[in-house]
Amino acid sequence: MIPNSTRFLSDLHELRQFGAAGVGKGVVRPAYSAADIAARAWLAGKFEEAGLPPHYDPMGSLFGLADGPSILLGSHSDTQPEGGWLDGALGVIAALEVARAAKEAGGPAVSVVSFQDEEGRFGVTTGSAVWSGSLSLEDADKLTDRDGATLAEARAAMPTASAFVDPSRFTGFIEMHIEQGPWLDEAGEAVGVVTDIVGIRDMRITFEGEQNHAGTTPMHLRRDAFQALGAFNAAINERFRNVVTPQTVWTIGHVKLHPDAHSIVPGSATFSMQWRDRDSTRLARMEEVIREAATQVAREQGVRVSFGQMLGLEPVQMDAKLRGVLEESAEQSAARSWRKMPSGALHDATNVSRHMPVAMLFVPSINGISHAFEEDTSEADLITGLEVLAGAVAQLG
Ligand code: GLV
Ligand code: MN
Ligand code: MN
Repeated sequence: MIPNSTRFLSDLHELRQFGAAGVGKGVVRPAYSAADIAARAWLAGKFEEAGLPPHYDPMGSLFGLADGPSILLGSHSDTQPEGGWLDGALGVIAALEVARAAKEAGGPAVSVVSFQDEEGRFGVTTGSAVWSGSLSLEDADKLTDRDGATLAEARAAMPTASAFVDPSRFTGFIEMHIEQGPWLDEAGEAVGVVTDIVGIRDMRITFEGEQNHAGTTPMHLRRDAFQALGAFNAAINERFRNVVTPQTVWTIGHVKLHPDAHSIVPGSATFSMQWRDRDSTRLARMEEVIREAATQVAREQGVRVSFGQMLGLEPVQMDAKLRGVLEESAEQSAARSWRKMPSGALHDATNVSRHMPVAMLFVPSINGISHAFEEDTSEADLITGLEVLAGAVAQLG
C-alpha cells in the first residue's frame, strides 16, 4: 500500500482551517465548540468519500467504519483552549490516508475514529473513556467545564447520535501522534515507538476564605483564599521531594479567584491539580500528600478546603505484537532514526486498551512545544510517520 503524502498534507491543512487562530498554525477548537462540530462534519464527508460510512456515537466521537472486522486507526480532532494543528488531528488524518491507501491496494480493512473531548474540556479523554466503559455516560453528563457548562448541555449540540460502536468489530488500535516533548527533536530522530503511557490524576480543589476590602483589612485578619493556594503550592513542591522521580510531573494549570478583582481580598480560589507518573502507587502517594497539605494549609490560614471529583487513568503498556510491527516498520522507513519511548502525554489509546491491543507511534515536535499555538513538525517527519503507520498496517494485513 502506498499512502499519498500530498493528499494527506492537504487534508491536514484543510482541517487546520476549522478554528485557525493565534500565531503560526495555531488552532482553537475545543470539544463541542462550533469549530469542532464543523470540523467533524467535514471529516464525516471525508469518511463518506473514502467509502467509510460515518457514525457519530452519543458522545460525539466520529467513526468511519469499514465493513466487517477491521483495524481501527485514529486519535481526536478537538483541541486545547489554545492548541496546535497537529495534536490529535495528525492521528486522524494519517488514519484517513492509510484507510484510503489500503482500500486502493485492496486491503486490509481499516476503520478511522476521531474521539470527542480527548483534551478534557470536561474530564480526561472523555469521549474514549465513555466509549471504553471506564466512565458511564450518566456520570460524564454531570461533568462541568471551567465555566460551569455541563457535558450533557454541550453534547446536545452534536448531530443526532446513534448507538455506541461495538468495540469487538476492531482487531486492534494504532494511534499516531506528535511526541509533544523534546526528546526526538533534540536527538534529530524521526520516529518514536511508544512503550507505555503514563497514568494521570486530576481534580479541582477549592479554598474558601473571606471576601473583604483590600485596603482596609489588616494582613493578620485576612482569610485570603489566594494566600492559601500559594502556601499549598509551596508545601506540595517541598513534600513531593521524597516521593517523586525526575519523570513525575504535576501542574496547577487553571485558577479561578472570586471575585477576581484588584481591590478585593479573594473569598475563594478554585484550581486544577493534576499529576502524572508511570507508577500507580506513586500517584496514590501524591494524592495523600496533596490532601494532607491542603488540609493543613486550610487549618493554618483559617480557610475551608474542599476536594472535587477525582478523575484519572491508570498507566498502560502497549501491546507487544503491535509494537513489534511498528518497530519493524520504523526500521524500514527510518532506519537507525527511531527509538522506543514512553508517553508523558495522555492518549485515547489508554481507554481503548480496555478492549483491544493498542500501540502508538510518535513524530517529533519542533522544540518540544505542544498545547500552544507554536506546535509544529517538519513535513518530512509527518510523511515518515505516515509511512511507518502504513507499513505497519500493511504487515498486519
Ligand atoms: C492530553 O492532551 C494530555 O493532556 O496529555
Ligand atoms: Mn492529543
Ligand atoms: Mn493534547
